[in-house]
Parts: sequence; structure tokens; C-alpha cells
Amino acid sequence: MNLRELHLAARPLAFLDRHAARSPGVLELRSTPHRRLLVSDPAAIRWIFRGDARFAHPGSRTLAAVLGGRSLVWADGPRHAAYRRGLLPVLRGTRLDGYRDTIDGVVQAAVDELVVGSVVALTQWMRRISLRVMVRVVLGTGDEALATRFDSWIHRELVSGWRNLVRRRSRGRRTRSDPWLDEKLVKAASAAGGTGSTALATLLREVARDERELRDNLVTLLFAGYETTASAAAWVLYHLHRDPALLAEVRAEAEAAADDGADAEAVPLLDAVVHEALRLNPPALWAGNRVVVDEDEFLGVRVTPGTVLTPAIHLAHRDPRQFPDPLRFDAGRFHRTTIPGDRYFPFGGGLRRCLGAELATLELRMVVVAVLRRTRLRFLDVSEAAASVRGHTSAPGHGLRVVVTACHP
Ligand code: HEM
Repeated sequence: MNLRELHLAARPLAFLDRHAARSPGVLELRSTPHRRLLVSDPAAIRWIFRGDARFAHPGSRTLAAVLGGRSLVWADGPRHAAYRRGLLPVLRGTRLDGYRDTIDGVVQAAVDELVVGSVVALTQWMRRISLRVMVRVVLGTGDEALATRFDSWIHRELVSGWRNLVRRRSRGRRTRSDPWLDEKLVKAASAAGGTGSTALATLLREVARDERELRDNLVTLLFAGYETTASAAAWVLYHLHRDPALLAEVRAEAEAAADDGADAEAVPLLDAVVHEALRLNPPALWAGNRVVVDEDEFLGVRVTPGTVLTPAIHLAHRDPRQFPDPLRFDAGRFHRTTIPGDRYFPFGGGLRRCLGAELATLELRMVVVAVLRRTRLRFLDVSEAAASVRGHTSAPGHGLRVVVTACHP
């Protein structure tokens, strides 16, 4: 690992922010033994996503140790296709309606628990909500003990920065699992199902070849779905509360909407706010690594097998050539407008595009609508939220605290 890679691994946001304003679009992190490039140039991103089938998608050392070696995220070819074929249809379009009651139940219960006058750590609160949603979506039941254990295990394993680096060096590529948790997960997945069940575990069971693979993919879905969505929800609420006029407009829209935020067209301004938050503060700083298998040509340059191409979401979203005044939060960029997926890709793209993108944006709208309709929150300090990174996920740090000033039934 050279000095550049060390900086990226130890202080990813500081490293990326240093390069964002003057990123050349392709930033070389390493030249030997194989080149490693952080890619944010739109033409190059298009090239990568369109030709995704010709790359290998090996595990990142940090995440592979937690998700396990048989996660669908590192599978290629027919194994990967089987998982996507199984999961994608239920995570799209009207099939998502099956999860609306689940999301609503969790969010309303979480708001019911609020006490007027209390101080709430927003990021942690959003994490609890998202994890409860994901446990129900994946396993079909709410198991509070399992959710709590999962959260503290992830917290322990995905410490960030220098501690993580030291740990990676000392433990190598071994999967770091919690046997109690693994057993509980596999048991719950085996029991999932029954008439009308939408539990994703039933689909994973059909594809996984053994219990180890089932465990890895249960962990994958829970992890991929909760940290990221929680981070985005916290950022959305943060940006709204920094701009009282925007907050009032979005609240009025939420209160006037006939449904619970599920229909994006009924809350276009909120939808734009969600996308702008995902642009400025993408929970995943970069998408998965793509490794060149056969010699190829990339932006006029020959790339040799082994070259690692990493779509750099954070860099692309802060490129001033694509987003003028990129550090300004401006929901207008997305209001009734779609930005092409080679410039804006919070969910990655190509063959590996996030399977939960629609579910996540549905959940984000529903959480924000419920919170805006039923509560009034005052941020203790809304001036500047410091982002912190766990694994590859960036979220507002622990300091983001709110006082609950009102809570309606
Ligand atoms: C705001 C929330 C979310 C964000 C920002 C996010 C972002 C991402 C990104 C950047 C990737 C990598 C894509 C690539 O390499 O091109 C990804 C992959 C993935 N995400 Fe999400 N995600 C979110 C929510 C979810 C949810 C709710 C689920 C659960 C269903 C989920 C499941 C997955 C899976 C299974 C993959 C691997 C896909 C594959 O390799 O084929 N994500 N996500």
C-alpha cells in the first residue's frame, strides 16, 4: 500500500475532498503491480457501467471480511445473475407496495417512542429505524435482539480510519463473524415464508447453495440496506433543517400529500431534496471495484489485466464542471429533472447497480414525511455536520443531535 492508498484508507473523506475540486476525472492511486484508478469522468463512468460484464468484481478487503466470501456482491457470471434474477423483481415498481406497511409500522412506532423535550442523536435514531425495516424486509419478522446484536457487531467490525487499517493488516482476509448472530440469522431465514410473505430470505434460500452462502447474503442485504439508508435519511433531515424556508415548503407538501410519501410524484420537492442529499453526501463514497480481465482500451489508454477501476461517487458528485458550486445544497438541481447516470450515481450502475435503490428512496420519503408531519425538531447545532465514515459508508457523525419540541399522535 503506497502513501496515497494509505491516506484514502485512513481518512477517506479528507482525501477525496482534497481532490474533488481539481480531480482530473481519473485519479491514479497506484501504478504497480497493477494500476488502481478512481474514476469520476462521465465518459469513463459510462464506459465502465456499459461494459460491466467484462470486468471481475472482487471483494474489498474491509467489506469482504464482514460480508463473507460468498456474498453476491463479489459473485460473477451465473451466480451473480441468479441472485439478481431472484431479488430484483420484488424490489421494483408496484411489488414494493408489499413493504409499505412494514416501513410505515416501523416509522410510526419510532416516532411514538419520542418524548417531547428529549435530545435524540439523529444518526443513531435513523440507524435504528432502518435496521428495523431491513430485518423485517429480509427476515419477515421483527427480532429486536437480533437487530441490536447486528448493529453492535457491525459497529465493532467496521471501525474506521487507522484502527481499521491496523486490524486489516493483523487479521488478513478472514471472515469476521459472530457465531450467535450467524445461527440466529440462518434460523430466522429458514423459518421465513408462508402465505403472502415478502421476506427476501425466502428468495435467498432458493439461490444459496449452503448455509454459509445463505449467511453471507443475509448479512449482505441487512448491511447494504440499513447503514446507507439511515445515513441518507439523517442527511436529508439535516439539510432541511438548515434551510427554514425549504423545510416549510417540504413540510407543506408532505402534509398535503394524500399518501405516506410512497408516491414520489405526490412529493416532488421532497424527492428532489432526497436526490440532492444523495448527491452532496452520498452514503457510499465509491461503488464496487471493477478489475480488468482482458487487455482493453480506456479513454484512449491501454489497460492491462489486473487494473482496478473504482467509480468514485463522491468525487463525481462534487465535480464543479458537472455541478456548479458543488458544495451548495440546491434541491433545484433535481426538481422535476433527471440527471444522467454517468454524472450522478449514488447507487452505482451497470450490472451491479444497487438492488435496493427503489426500496431505499421509498423508505427515505416515507421516513421524512412521517417525521415532518408528526414532529418538530430543533437541531442543537445545525451549522456544520461533520461526516464520519464506517467501512465505505459516510454518515453525519455523533454530534448531530436534535431536541424534540413537539410530537403529534
Ligand atoms: C440510500 C441507500 C443506498 C445506497 C446509497 C446504496 C448504494 C449502493 C452502491 C453504491 C452499490 C454498489 C453498486 C456498484 O458497484 O455499481 C450498492 C450495491 C448493492 N446494494 Fe445498495 N444502496 C442503498 C440501499 C440498499 C438497500 C435498501 C438494499 C437492500 C435491498 C441494498 C442492497 C444492495 C445490494 C444487494 C448491492 C449489490 C448489488 C450487486 O452487486 O449486484 N442497497 N448499493
